[in-house]
Amino acid sequence: MKIYAYGIRDDEKPSLKEWETAHPEVEVAFTQELLTPETAKNAAGADGVVVYQQLPYTRETLQALADQGIHQMSLRNVGIDNIDLKAAKELGFKISNVAAYSPNAIAEHAAIQLARILRRSKELDAKVAKRDLRWAPTIGREVRMQTVGVVGTGRIGRVLIQILQGFGAKIVAYDIFKNPDIDKQGLYVDSLNELYAKSDVISLHVPSVKENIHMINKDSIAKMKDGVVLVNVARGDLVDTDAVVAALDSGKVSGMVMDVYENEIGIFNEDWEGKKFPDARLDDLIDRPNVLVTPHTAFYTTKAVLEMVHQSFDAAVAIANGQETRNLVKF
Ligand code: COI
Repeated sequence: MKIYAYGIRDDEKPSLKEWETAHPEVEVAFTQELLTPETAKNAAGADGVVVYQQLPYTRETLQALADQGIHQMSLRNVGIDNIDLKAAKELGFKISNVAAYSPNAIAEHAAIQLARILRRSKELDAKVAKRDLRWAPTIGREVRMQTVGVVGTGRIGRVLIQILQGFGAKIVAYDIFKNPDIDKQGLYVDSLNELYAKSDVISLHVPSVKENIHMINKDSIAKMKDGVVLVNVARGDLVDTDAVVAALDSGKVSGMVMDVYENEIGIFNEDWEGKKFPDARLDDLIDRPNVLVTPHTAFYTTKAVLEMVHQSFDAAVAIANGQETRNLVKF
């Protein structure tokens, strides 16, 4: 059996080596190049490909794989919103993802960045770097004094709830699929509007499906408390960036944690030093003292990367062998 992997980064190579050593029966070939209609032909002869979410996987790309007789794709990440699923279905693809590589990686990042926003760390660090060691005006707020609205109580949302409860925060949660543990704790509110009205901080942990796109917009922001803090470590298109920029300007939103951005494809995980972003709004957001931008690195821990590599290759082999895998995506 042969598995061909695209977009393998240097930080993934030790985990890949480990997996290969444990699976001598599988021939592994890989490239740093991303999967495109042009690079698809390099996978000729493979039973399946392993990729991660870096580019849109269009009908053209899927067709190019199908032309090589490849009808399976194993993602090393969780999100499948970059795949033309209609084309994938029509072309008879089996797709796996890594549904839980490390929910803690992402939840911890959200919690850490939230705490940093509340303690005004960006402003304080800038002052200290200039040798200004005065206390004022960078007085902070305590996590335990906040009501945090967690939108989405899947694996990541639930770990975040645990972490924030450790700090003593009051949690309200909303999800269309209720989790029994969260329900037992009585954390659910009945509607998003109720969550917006009650929360000092709102943290998003839902997928990018059409119902959620731009859920944070001018109208939803108007329903939130004055001075609300927004946390988005989920997907960039959940947030209407223009609406958030306007709300940061007016003070309606007092701070924002952004690990994802609406137009991040082709921008994040690239070196822009000395170059201009194609989207000037990002410059503005990065420069704001009350906005913490990270380039989709919430997931980026040694544990998560290891799980992403190992679980995706396990799934690729299982699919190629016609076996069950818990990571098969139903679409
Ligand atoms: C995901 O797993 O879906 C992520 O957002 C991580 C990234 C490597 C695409």
